[in-house]
Amino acid sequence: MKIVIQHSPSDAGRVAARQIASTLRLQQNGIIGLATGSSPQPLYEALAALVRAGEVSFASTRGFALDEYVGIDPDHPESYHSIIARDAIAPLGMDPRLVRVPSGSGSVEEVDEAAVEYEAAIREAGGVDVQILGIGANGHIGFNEPGSAADSVTRRVDLAPETIAANSRFFPSVADVPTQAVSQGLGTILSARAIVLVANGSEKAQAVRDALEGPIEASCPASFLREHDDVTFCLDEQAAALLS
Ligand code: F6R
Repeated sequence: MKIVIQHSPSDAGRVAARQIASTLRLQQNGIIGLATGSSPQPLYEALAALVRAGEVSFASTRGFALDEYVGIDPDHPESYHSIIARDAIAPLGMDPRLVRVPSGSGSVEEVDEAAVEYEAAIREAGGVDVQILGIGANGHIGFNEPGSAADSVTRRVDLAPETIAANSRFFPSVADVPTQAVSQGLGTILSARAIVLVANGSEKAQAVRDALEGPIEASCPASFLREHDDVTFCLDEQAAALLS
């Protein structure tokens, strides 16, 4: 477990980007796990700068997104299909044909079948080389809310009320936020060979502390990351403020 604390989110993003670039430079056709949300944006911007500088290329990197809302059209601007295209594929110069996002559309049966197929696709690809994560204020990673099992796989999940409230900033009202998602499981995430988690801001400080210094248990899903042997937390000062 490595913990890097930087003054600002952009400094933390730059450190995370260098770590990811050096991991993927060693892989001819690497596989990256992609998170959405506010936390990884400075990291994607820093990776894009490395691409522009010719220090790394993602042109043949495969990608698997962590999650997608259930019941949202993939073309909706706040679908994770759209966000991954906007925040990761375009700035990093990835080939959209090599990037997958879980399907949250169709009937419940179709969504559940697609989740099983998504998990299998990650394994068939040989697993993720480096997984990018944010963290929820309640300690979730992906949409593995408190109570999720350490060996869970990609599946349909209920979003916690606090997650729905937090994500309502992206929708006209809280009633418009999907209440379910398809998420890679904790077991899926922990099977990545390396993991880089980014967290910024004081609203993440308690979750970061619980993840790093609390008991390793399902009440804080991110605490299971301590059982993985190649995890880096890249934090700004505010997110690190409650660490002892
Ligand atoms: C996003 C994801 C979530 C977010 C978390 C933090 O793909 O899986 O775990 O990383 O909810 O979101 P932000 O960064 O928007 O605070």
